[in-house]
Amino acid sequence: MLYGEVTLPGDKSISHRAVMLNAISVGKAKITNILKSEDVKATIEILKSLSVKIIEKDNLLYVTGNGLMGLKKSAKPLDCKNSGTSARLLMGLLSGLPFSSTIIGDKSLSKRPMRRVVKHLEPLQANILLRQKDYLPAEILPCRLTSSEVYLDVSSAQVKSAVLLAALKAKNSTIIHELGPSRNHTELMLKYMGADIRVDGLRIQISGKHTLQAKDIKVPGDISSASFFIIACLITPDSEILIKNCGLNKTRTGILQVLDQIGAYYEIRNQRETCLETVGDLYIKYHDNLKPFIIDQSLIPLLIDEIPILTLLGTQIEGTSIIKDAKELRIKESDRIQTTCESLTKLGANIKELEDGMMIKGKTNICPNTVDTYYDHRISMMLKVAKILCEDIIIKHPNCDKISYPNFENDLNNLLK
Ligand code: S3P
Repeated sequence: MLYGEVTLPGDKSISHRAVMLNAISVGKAKITNILKSEDVKATIEILKSLSVKIIEKDNLLYVTGNGLMGLKKSAKPLDCKNSGTSARLLMGLLSGLPFSSTIIGDKSLSKRPMRRVVKHLEPLQANILLRQKDYLPAEILPCRLTSSEVYLDVSSAQVKSAVLLAALKAKNSTIIHELGPSRNHTELMLKYMGADIRVDGLRIQISGKHTLQAKDIKVPGDISSASFFIIACLITPDSEILIKNCGLNKTRTGILQVLDQIGAYYEIRNQRETCLETVGDLYIKYHDNLKPFIIDQSLIPLLIDEIPILTLLGTQIEGTSIIKDAKELRIKESDRIQTTCESLTKLGANIKELEDGMMIKGKTNICPNTVDTYYDHRISMMLKVAKILCEDIIIKHPNCDKISYPNFENDLNNLLK
């Protein structure tokens, strides 16, 4: 069983943004609880190479801003490694500057689509060249940005954020129309740092040439990382855990709506606000007889990164659980529909792979086999939770947790009694 407390590492999305936005602000900021993972390290190293002063001291990160136009050309290509958030947000951050930059990534990132960002930066006159018009390396060429009205044709926080970061450098105001909701950490942080930004439903208006003030940021814990403990607790009899300092931003808490659907027991304690983000402690207690769930379009953007672990949950609930409208999963760090279905099927699950999701028939026993993470951190952590149910599972390429949660195994083992 799982029992006890865990304090989460910082939210990955917020960590990237805390460093990037402070890098183009005026002043000096202290960032507390920044996630120390490979993805965030990639962003930090890139900003250093663009001449931003970043100092790590006693678990804190100090960033001195260069101002909106103050980044300097890097002597080397900007290596985003596995990090889609770094690559996509940098395209907006670097557009409109008077020098060119080259963005590169690892094998997985070099297969992920980037045209979705470039096409939405083009109305602002950004000039970005992509390999085969869709992939890294990307050449960001010098240009002068103009404000525009942009209609997003995909619900993506990375695409939206790239446009917001570019719009900061245009002369007038830019209006963005979102296709559907997506995580809003960039909007909240921009507001916190004094940007002139107004959000009205799916319409966002932001003024250009408006100085950002450097701000100290306390990064809330990552609910996507919490999801592995939540599900571990729900599928292991007698478990009871408290997840401390968990980010509870409404654009991220789709998993709590799934807990409501299945009739799981949880409490939010000590809810508070930090740097405009909602934070709280999450108490979860195991009970049996959970009901199957249906996840569709209305929930997908609010829990997109949690789907591999929610699929494992589905295998442990009596009845048919359905995940649909989740095509975006096919272009994450791995094709997560395929890698989740393939690995869980090998472990005895009854899952039908759909074009845009999966249908899971539970409850099935998890059986021993050798499975692969495909170097995808969220598949790796899901499989380590599955291993609680069957310790003879062998996991190939298990080191990729470090992309988002380097200490995951340790924290999970500390909860296991
Ligand atoms: C992220 C946005 C999401 C998410 C990713 C991180 C971000 O992707 O899947 O892990 O930090 O903006 P989308 O851009 O597709 O929303």
